[in-house]
Amino acid sequence: MKLLGVSASPSADSKTLLALTAAVAHVRWRYDDVATDVINLRDLDMAFCDGRDPDRYEGDTRVVIDTVVAADALIIATPMYRGSYTGILKNLVDVLPNDALQGKPVGLIASGGSDHHFLAVEHQLKPLIGFFYGHPIPGAVYLNNDHFAAGRLADPGIIDRLAQLVDAVVEFARRVPRTVVGADRPTITRKTLAET
Ligand SMILES: Cc1cc2nc3c(=O)[nH]c(=O)nc-3n(C[C@H](O)[C@H](O)[C@H](O)COP(=O)(O)O)c2cc1C
Repeated sequence: MKLLGVSASPSADSKTLLALTAAVAHVRWRYDDVATDVINLRDLDMAFCDGRDPDRYEGDTRVVIDTVVAADALIIATPMYRGSYTGILKNLVDVLPNDALQGKPVGLIASGGSDHHFLAVEHQLKPLIGFFYGHPIPGAVYLNNDHFAAGRLADPGIIDRLAQLVDAVVEFARRVPRTVVGADRPTITRKTLAET
């Protein structure tokens, strides 16, 4: 099984990336048979989505699309920006093919300046995974500044919950075949003006 962590924080010293790294470290420690990879979108030269077919992106964008498509399970981590996920996460999902997450469990990690926007996990992030016919795993972990100290993740309760989240993602991926997705999705075509 391949588990992919994606950090969608644009900042250099990212609390979100720290939390994602702790979650993925738990997978590496606990499961010998799960291959892990982490994509930090900040480090990559992603093209802005311009409406082209996902097959036609190149460079880092191509590598990221292919890595997401190849993953069996994902952990997506984002800071809250303006009460929602970041622009670089929006750009990532815009370049992905519609079936990139189909039938895959997705664990969600979000961080905010306070807990003020924690419900954005429910009304922003989970519908986003739902669009792709992915399975957002219950028990998303939401962090705020108080969970960090001296540049480290310092809250034992949060560290424990991150482990529980990724355990659930791995367990789900083992037990539920990717073909279990419900009704067929409607066809969503991309047409340029010239193709209409
Ligand atoms: C442009 C911008 C918008 C933000 N908007 C929110 C917000 O709406 N709600 C919130 O709780 N925190 C907000 N924050 C704070 C960040 O979500 C918070 O500091 C987060 O932990 C940063 O994660 P990082 O260290 O991975 O960048 C915002 C920060 C920035 C830079």
